[in-house]
Amino acid sequence: MSPASMPAIGHTILRLDEVGSTNTLVMETPAYLENHGLVVLARHQTAGRGRIGRKWVSLPDAQLQFSVVLHPPLPREELPVVSLLAGLAVAEALEAALGLAPVLKWPNDVLLEGRKVCGILMELKQGAQGGLRLVVGIGLNCLGGEEGFPPELRDRLTTIEQAAGRPVDKEAVLQAVLAALQAWYDRLTAGGRPALLDAWERRSDMIGKTLRYPTPAGPREGRAAGLTEEGYLLIETAEGGRHIHAAGEVEWLG
Ligand code: BTN
Repeated sequence: MSPASMPAIGHTILRLDEVGSTNTLVMETPAYLENHGLVVLARHQTAGRGRIGRKWVSLPDAQLQFSVVLHPPLPREELPVVSLLAGLAVAEALEAALGLAPVLKWPNDVLLEGRKVCGILMELKQGAQGGLRLVVGIGLNCLGGEEGFPPELRDRLTTIEQAAGRPVDKEAVLQAVLAALQAWYDRLTAGGRPALLDAWERRSDMIGKTLRYPTPAGPREGRAAGLTEEGYLLIETAEGGRHIHAAGEVEWLG
């Protein structure tokens, strides 16, 4: 199918009351995985998953927790940028719908006032009829205040309502995120990777910031220099060299 004739992102939104993880459900259900644009949303996840094996804390009704199926007509090496695309789309949606000023933090956290409001977990699977399928899981803290989170996470997390200081319509946020995802997806698949990377960098405040990153020889410190063409993090090392960090955690030191 050509990109123009693909069904729209969010053509169907499957709304579940409770599930282990929307990402796991989609990854394990071939009919869902084969359905480009399908959104599977849960009111509550009992085993929500975060990046690098972490747990995602599910707050029933207060969050948007959903997975989007994408079949990008792109070579495998270009797929990591789709995860950046998701963070950028969430940030643009929060600005467009609510006038907020989100900041992106590599690899793909969205922050409001320095605290995480959204996390993204992108997973990849070979489709039954060939082709690569992406499952982009988005967890967005929408309603209530920090008191909803476990005490040890409260100073690092926020919600849209807390940052906006007024009530928020979760459904309107969902529709704004899906529209922004569609707009950037169309642009990316029409050759817009440089524009995407540029827009992502402009929404991030990471350039020049110091960070600690893992290496086989132990943790090292460096400065963020930007994104590579693949969407990886380019680091200027303390020794004046360059290091490309493709995946895994970095610790931002400021
Ligand atoms: C992270 O910040 O580490 C990523 C969190 C991703 C959470 C979302 S919620 C919907 C989808 N289903 C999951 O199990 N995880 C993602």
